[in-house]
Amino acid sequence: MDHAERIYSEYNAWLQPKFSLEPKALQISASSDVDFIHQECRLGLIRLWGGIQESAEYTLRLKVDDLEHEGFSLTPLENGYEIAGGSKKGLLYGVYRFLSRLAGGESMEKIQEHSAPQVDYRIINHWDNMDGRIERGYAGHSFFFRNNKFDYDEERITNYARLMASIGINGICINNVNVNRVSAGLIAEPLLSDLAELAARFRPFGIRLLVSVHFDAPMIIGGLTTSDPLDEGVMEFWKAQSAVVYDKIPDLLGYLVKADSEFRGGPEEFGRTQADGANTIAAAVAPFGGVVFWRCFVYNCQQDWRDTQTDRPMAAYKHFQPLDGKFDRNVILQIKNGPLDFQTREPVSPLFSSLKNTNEAIEFQIAQEYTGQQIDLYSLAVQWEEILTTEVDKGKQLKSLLGREILAMTAVANTGDNMNWTGNTLAQCNLYAFGRMAWNPELTAKELIREWVRVTFDTDEHGRRTVEEMLLKSRGIYESYTAPLGIGFMVNPSTHYGPNIDGYEFSNWGTYHRASLEAIGIDRTSKGTGFTLQYPEPLQRMYDRIESCPEELLLFFHRVRYDYKMKDGRTLLQYIYDSHFEGARQAEDLLQSWEGLENRIPQETYHSVKERLKLQLLNAREWRDQVNTFFYRKTGIDDEKGRKIYR
Ligand code: GCU
Repeated sequence: MDHAERIYSEYNAWLQPKFSLEPKALQISASSDVDFIHQECRLGLIRLWGGIQESAEYTLRLKVDDLEHEGFSLTPLENGYEIAGGSKKGLLYGVYRFLSRLAGGESMEKIQEHSAPQVDYRIINHWDNMDGRIERGYAGHSFFFRNNKFDYDEERITNYARLMASIGINGICINNVNVNRVSAGLIAEPLLSDLAELAARFRPFGIRLLVSVHFDAPMIIGGLTTSDPLDEGVMEFWKAQSAVVYDKIPDLLGYLVKADSEFRGGPEEFGRTQADGANTIAAAVAPFGGVVFWRCFVYNCQQDWRDTQTDRPMAAYKHFQPLDGKFDRNVILQIKNGPLDFQTREPVSPLFSSLKNTNEAIEFQIAQEYTGQQIDLYSLAVQWEEILTTEVDKGKQLKSLLGREILAMTAVANTGDNMNWTGNTLAQCNLYAFGRMAWNPELTAKELIREWVRVTFDTDEHGRRTVEEMLLKSRGIYESYTAPLGIGFMVNPSTHYGPNIDGYEFSNWGTYHRASLEAIGIDRTSKGTGFTLQYPEPLQRMYDRIESCPEELLLFFHRVRYDYKMKDGRTLLQYIYDSHFEGARQAEDLLQSWEGLENRIPQETYHSVKERLKLQLLNAREWRDQVNTFFYRKTGIDDEKGRKIYR
């Protein structure tokens, strides 16, 4: 095996041989302008088959054809096979899809597919800081930066680019949305040249870079005394600086901006609107075809817990909905999937149904900040499928807006310098599922989990089924022992792992449960904070009425007495107890199921996942006991089934 081949295999999770595949004697035919793709295809096949024997009798043809721009088709032919792409990029995606299906154990003659992505922008957002730490990173350090410099292993970057392209990712933002004074300099020399070098490494893989920029860059790097977006000097700064940037990186996808959010400067500091801020920066990149992804995560993080009028989930809508239609064409508003912050259960952000004349991006978080931190098992695909199939407007599911109003699917990365990319091998499934779902939102969690398991584990049917079931159930399990029914948070402040029921109760972050002796939750109905009014009818009414509110969101929308009767007749309190006892028990099942796979899974993976499942069990028990004790102490009512609650 030569060096390139070895490297090809080393990290690339789902393009590795998992089955002993029959090598095929074949010839790869391609025009010279797709040399790079030809080489990728060759390397992939060599990895899968251990070599290629040249034979003119069977031809694998690679060609650019008249298909959708990024689309591809995979077609078996008599005495041959054809991979066609609507462009070089499409062809590359076709090659990876073909290799991936082969790696999943399918035989070439049976692989047939025609596919094109539903959204134009499929983007990974790294929250990497230039000192090498990753905000909310659970898989090691940054593989881009160290000591406030670019510092990377070239082969790892190539592998990463390949890994991302193989699931259809076409944009990567390499630095944290929380830009500091150092990373603010990424759009100026000397860092800009390094950024350009990195961009060149991603380019062959059809991936364009994005950079998070500092709203106060005019002051930090431009030496101005203001960042007011309507100030002439500020506008000039953005234009001139962007010209410098695009001169170095002509295909830079654009900028990502977190403004007026969690202590970041923004237009509102100058009495300007979000549109003023976004448009000034967008105008600067427009001549170069650049895009500005402007985040909507704007809320008051200095709230007084005594203030019951301010309701954090309402904030994004209040800031952005009145500006619908006021954003330039190359601005894309980047909206977190829910109105709060990546909790296990939230409704879909009301901005998706209310913005009609604005380009939108939906932002997910693959990094498991609130969802187990890559220790506890949590299949995000299950949650994303629910989100994408949620009704957002008169019978329309969220996914029907993809490619029309929602032009981009973006997600916070869960990767780091850990050898297996994601720390917990099973967390790779979330990364894989994100790319595939961004490409084709019709894919179900079940299908995606199955695909990933097939291309990842060389094990028998029992082994595959076990891992699939564990993944499919994992989200429900985690939700049930943490903070279910949409109540959210109750986590340790700042780390966001482990229980701390009142951890955020008297803080200024706006995330309160307001549990009393009788009831819990915030009344977000039209009679309460009015949050439900941000949804169109009939959703407004559905969420407003406790009888029609989806039960899994009960405590997101309503303040509910502990003796409230749930649909199955249990009291809310009993539901809480049951959920926590059951969740912790199921965490035990997860560990047991995994233990049944010893010798069916590579030793290293087996042991490292097992260690995590053991930690998960401790975490689940801690949640169970703290939550149950908390509610027992509030109510004095015991568990009907007499299970152990600490008093
Ligand atoms: C969360 C997270 C922060 C992050 C922020 C964001 O609040 O805890 O680390 O910066 O989201 O999305 O900007």
